[in-house]
Amino acid sequence: MNGAKVMGSDFDFDATLNEYIRMLERRVKELEAERAELRRELRRYKMELDKLLSPPLIEAIVLSVLPDGRVVVKSSTGPNLVVRVMSDVDVSKLLPGAHVAINQRGSAIVEVLPEHEDPFVRAMEVVERPKISFEDIGGLKQQKQELYESVILPLVEPELFRELGVEPPKGVLLYGPPGCGKTLLAKAVAGMSKATFIRVVGSEFVQKYVGEGARIVREVFRLAKKKAPSIVFIDEIDAIAAKRLDIGTSGEREVQRTLMQLLAILDGFDSLENVRVIAATNRIDILDPAILRPGRFDRLLYVPPPNHRARIEIFAIHTKKMKLSKDVDLEYLASITEGATGADIKAIAMEAGYSALRRRAKEVSMNDFLYAVEKVMKKRKRPYIEPTDVSQEELDYKESSPRETSVMHI
Ligand SMILES: Nc1ncnc2c1ncn2[C@@H]1O[C@H](COP(=O)(O)OP(=O)(O)OP(=O)(O)O)[C@@H](O)[C@H]1O
Ligand SMILES: [Mg+2]
Repeated sequence: MNGAKVMGSDFDFDATLNEYIRMLERRVKELEAERAELRRELRRYKMELDKLLSPPLIEAIVLSVLPDGRVVVKSSTGPNLVVRVMSDVDVSKLLPGAHVAINQRGSAIVEVLPEHEDPFVRAMEVVERPKISFEDIGGLKQQKQELYESVILPLVEPELFRELGVEPPKGVLLYGPPGCGKTLLAKAVAGMSKATFIRVVGSEFVQKYVGEGARIVREVFRLAKKKAPSIVFIDEIDAIAAKRLDIGTSGEREVQRTLMQLLAILDGFDSLENVRVIAATNRIDILDPAILRPGRFDRLLYVPPPNHRARIEIFAIHTKKMKLSKDVDLEYLASITEGATGADIKAIAMEAGYSALRRRAKEVSMNDFLYAVEKVMKKRKRPYIEPTDVSQEELDYKESSPRETSVMHI
């Protein structure tokens, strides 16, 4: 029938048939491709469904590995658990501090999680730098100089130290009575240097990171090294570095572990590694002497209450943005505020401002300041500073003045 032609027409039956077959073959291929695509889709949906149906895993942190191969972990849900390890888990990665996933029943480690930074620790990095410089701090000239030399300079020009063979101090400890500018000095260092600045508050270790203090200390310094050059500022260090007395409660033991970790890290640091540590406390008397040993916090900087000259400067700083009337005499104010801290002076400036506001005045007058000095220095309880120019009798007298007692009786 090859080349058969229907009588009387040009119709080529074979050619049409061949064409039809080719068309069908194309269609088969298309359908096969479509089927493969649908299979893939089905597989994907099955996988998604599996994800939805499988129970969540619990994150935990390895505390220690027992000799029998079981592992003590601290689960994120709270308690410490002793768990077994699934056979496909790489045991060599089970180091203390590693993040792992345990199954829902909390009976076994199923996976070692990839390293990730603790969100809390990441949040400690000061990204938005305070707009404070040494100029915003009154007095404390020598302290500023020493901070510059021992913290900022080694980070900016490490070669200078290396060439001379001089080792910059590892840690600088600022100490002194409350409200005299310790935190402020550290903030200024953060504002002025371009290094990474990581701020840790000692008391947070005790409250927020119960049971994890040592780990957080480790992670803080790991972050500091990773982002070097950097400065770690530990405010209120007394909360973690108080003298080791009788260690009774588990809370104290925990604080103890945190401190030991901190000491270990300070010891282990090569001092030219680009990480500097600043700490601050108003209770140097209760600090563990171990932390003050040379090689750890080897530069102690006393931040004293301001003297007359410094008080004038602090008054000037805190009244810079105020509209003062001509009679305001900052020097006189400084002379009648003996014993005031920087924080007191800030409070005085604020009170004076409020007093003017109450009068709806356009300027803050000397009288506003005198009223504020009276209010802040004599009426407010300031147990942290010993009044030098106001006797205790005077204070008692002011506190039980007739007007105030009558108010109390109402
Ligand atoms: N020398 C100073 N110059 C200007 N302002 C100061 C000075 N000292 C303290 N102040 C003011 O007082 C406030 C409190 O000071 P700061 O927080 O530095 O005190 P501190 O020494 O850290 O006290 P604490 O030991 O209680 O933490 C500052 O925010 C600042 O406004
Ligand atoms: Mg402070």
